[in-house]
Amino acid sequence: MDVIEVEGGRHIEGSVQVEGAKNSALKLMAATIMAPGVTTLTNVPNIADVHVMGKVLKYLGATIDVLDEHTLAIDTSNVDKWETPYSLVSQMRASTAVMGPLISRFGRAIVAMPGGCNIGARKIDMHILGLEALGVSFKIDHGNINATTPDGLTGSSVMLSFASVGATENLMMASVFAKGTTVIDNAAREPEIVDLANMLNEMGAKITGAGTPVIEIEGVKELHPVEHRVVGDRIEAGTFIAIGAIAGGPVTVTGFDPVHLGLVLRKYEQMGIRIDRFENGVTASRTGDIIPVDIQTLPFPGFPTDMQAQTMGLLALAKGSCVITENVFENRFMFASELQRMGANITIEGHHAIVRGVPAFSGAEVQASDLRAGAALVMAGLVADGTTVVSNIHHIDRGYEKFVEKLDALGAAARRTTRPDEDVFKD
Ligand code: EPZ
Repeated sequence: MDVIEVEGGRHIEGSVQVEGAKNSALKLMAATIMAPGVTTLTNVPNIADVHVMGKVLKYLGATIDVLDEHTLAIDTSNVDKWETPYSLVSQMRASTAVMGPLISRFGRAIVAMPGGCNIGARKIDMHILGLEALGVSFKIDHGNINATTPDGLTGSSVMLSFASVGATENLMMASVFAKGTTVIDNAAREPEIVDLANMLNEMGAKITGAGTPVIEIEGVKELHPVEHRVVGDRIEAGTFIAIGAIAGGPVTVTGFDPVHLGLVLRKYEQMGIRIDRFENGVTASRTGDIIPVDIQTLPFPGFPTDMQAQTMGLLALAKGSCVITENVFENRFMFASELQRMGANITIEGHHAIVRGVPAFSGAEVQASDLRAGAALVMAGLVADGTTVVSNIHHIDRGYEKFVEKLDALGAAARRTTRPDEDVFKD
């Protein structure tokens, strides 16, 4: 079993450049299905989830040339399947992002119903409702979603009951070739949505309003392949900013747009963290106490749920108490119970976590429940007394490239080792 061991107490300082955004790259890869030919994606993160999406595309008939560690040339000319198997979807629920592109290209798709995961049921009812409005009919049997379009795809107005990132993306991609215009109301506004819309428009789509609550897609006949650079990963950046904040820094994080972390940076300043912004990054540092600040996670531009665990780690060492409310996922406080093994004082009441600051963490054996919680546990280990061993680090590998190397370049004493299975818990 691979684990990450961290010695607490080292001085953490220096610079780190983040990769392209996982939560954009996966959808950009799926979207290449809609533009037969070779699309070259640059600034692609070299992470496990990208490898799985590569397997999905190859299963469908695409070929992928890895031109360098962060550049993929994806040829979808010979994609001739419209079914994704459970074996791949179960590895990564984001495989459902191929549903819109497959429906657009073939008028049908068979996608394994994704299971839940540690942070929630992860339903796709909003994807299905929205696609039905465009003329897609669904049959769900034996764990597969069978989508067909008996009368083709016709633009329509869709109102999402929640600003779902995945539903917005699937709807946007499914409406690119629809007859007429589609309006998505209460659309998700994440920067990764804007990145996807930008690439689709570069390919010949006619999408306006991405990044606002109302996205309009005027149907076109076809798309052509392009070269596109993946937007910087604001969540990887936020994770290293939290690391600079908890350990004191200064840590300079580059390769992303600080505007994409607007509320996070403002909240961190309220918490007593110094944030110096510049065009493609920030420098984070702290000399005084962490000031407790209440946090509510919400769709963008609200506080991102993907920064909740990292921020809870900071607030668990604040001078005083605060409340963190998780409004996006129904079960994303598992990190709290692991952090309590390190001495944190957190009470969970439904969607609220009451965090009472403690003076310090003590190193312990803990396990990652999802990739952000895993990164946050390693972060807590950096300032804990003694050694922290984080297991289930396959979660971290899904979304963080060279995480340990980047930490050690900042002065951390972190290393990947393997432990006999019986020595650590498995999730
Ligand atoms: C994306 O997940 C991200 N994943 C998540 O990042 C991120 O936390 C989330 O957006 C919110 O920002 C990828 O982009 C691959 P949603 P997604 O649809 O699209 C419920 C990470 O750490 N919902 O906005 O699945 C859903 O269950 C990951 O990188 C429905 O009920 O998020 C959840 O509670 C974790 N029905 C909430 O909405 C639906 O049809 C938000 O989901 C769709 C969603």
